[in-house]
Amino acid sequence: MTEKKYVLAIDQGTTSSRAIIFDHSGQIVSVGQYEHEQIFPRAGWVEHNPAEIWDNVREAVATALSKAQTNRDEIAAVGITNQRETTVVWDKNTGEPVYNAIVWQDTRTDKIVKELAGDEGAEKYKEICGLPLATYFAGPKVKWILDNVEGAKEKAEAGDLLFGTTDTWVLWNMTGGTEGGVHITDVTNASRTMLMDLKTLDWDENIASDMGIPMSMLPEIKSSSEVYGKGRRQGLLTDVPIAGILGDQQAATFGQACFEVGMAKNTYGTGNFMLMNTGTDIVHSENGLLTTVCYKIGDNDAIYALEGSIAVTGSLIQWLRDNLGIITSAPEVEELAKTVEDNGGAYFVPAFSGLFAPYWKSDARGALVGLTRYVNKGHIARAALEATAFQTREVQEAMAQDSDVELTELKVDGGMIENELLMQFQADILGVDVVRPKIAETTALGAAYAAGIAVGFWEGEQDVIDNWAEDRRWSPKMDEDEAERTYRLWKKAVTKTFDWVD
Ligand code: G3P
Repeated sequence: MTEKKYVLAIDQGTTSSRAIIFDHSGQIVSVGQYEHEQIFPRAGWVEHNPAEIWDNVREAVATALSKAQTNRDEIAAVGITNQRETTVVWDKNTGEPVYNAIVWQDTRTDKIVKELAGDEGAEKYKEICGLPLATYFAGPKVKWILDNVEGAKEKAEAGDLLFGTTDTWVLWNMTGGTEGGVHITDVTNASRTMLMDLKTLDWDENIASDMGIPMSMLPEIKSSSEVYGKGRRQGLLTDVPIAGILGDQQAATFGQACFEVGMAKNTYGTGNFMLMNTGTDIVHSENGLLTTVCYKIGDNDAIYALEGSIAVTGSLIQWLRDNLGIITSAPEVEELAKTVEDNGGAYFVPAFSGLFAPYWKSDARGALVGLTRYVNKGHIARAALEATAFQTREVQEAMAQDSDVELTELKVDGGMIENELLMQFQADILGVDVVRPKIAETTALGAAYAAGIAVGFWEGEQDVIDNWAEDRRWSPKMDEDEAERTYRLWKKAVTKTFDWVD
């Protein structure tokens, strides 16, 4: 038998799908990556085409295998990680989605969540599922599809429709689709639907019934690290065990080796997501954070986390590029921001999907305030970068209040950590060191570890700890009073975005 040299991770993200091959020391061997279209049918709506995503996943796997000059025989296991709340509903008999995927950033379920909240308010289900009623989560998106797509409700009630976040959609297709595809998700993704009870790690029938979602649509909930199925007959990964699933933010937490209570990471992607490990305790937030499952390795107890989710950070830079055209590529934002000394008094609150943590205001909308004739595009670029750091500080303060753990340093990952100006400003605004690991692809790495551990390619968490290495550290330089002054102005700017939608 050929020696198993690698683990392959599929990272089905918000803007692209990637396949990354890792070796035993956690080093990247090769990458395949394909972007998919962002569909904006109306203000506040964001969709993806699930068929395009599945095509891209296959292409990405083919590219990664060919770049590494390897094939399935050398792949010990496949791990899947994914954008989390994005919702796909498809017909199990044809494999066809009944509607585009509704993306986590989409706010169309605003009315649905208000109606569900009724007199009991947004925290109605929080004790059970750890989440406030908000447009962000998957359950209300399923309800929207069943209520609005012709014939969907009847088909769902007849048992013909399946729901999944994109891990489930990819796994079902990878394992054979209409010919025996497995319909499974893991505890971390299930914890983003509003439909899972955090204690029992099972679906809550009452919440599903309040949302009009038949239980037959829901995937089986498994741990984050076990063999769920094997690659389908027709594919490039025939018979390779698919053995790890983690929502992307949880995967990054795992890949960053945050295994002890109080350890936290912050990922700078299209949005920002800070997760702090709370061990086997389910800690309910008093300060606008989410309670979520962090990971569950096989039969071990589930480990939970507090999470601060920020909807718009990297996607604001894409917006500067695509909608304003003041930069032609995302990395250019740093050059533009460096043309000025400071933000020139401008504050940019990118409440494009309402405000997530710690505010949870679906009816907020973005604002650029503090403008004078003095402000130029350099200041706007700087204000856009600073928005990421300010929002992170808000989340970090909420975490300190909820957990009584004072942050001593912050482990970071994701695309925006290449931006030196942002990382320095982040350290300045938080007042603690910001630390970047050598392997910045911690999301894919986390999923690879979960899969590799399940099949014995790695022994366990200790391998992850041993392979983690620091690359770069930024320490606070800004005068503390100045940091406090600018943060105070940010807080004022945020209030200008509230209650914007009628
Ligand atoms: O909750 C949304 C998150 O999972 C999306 O992550 O990295 O695809 O923007 P990303």
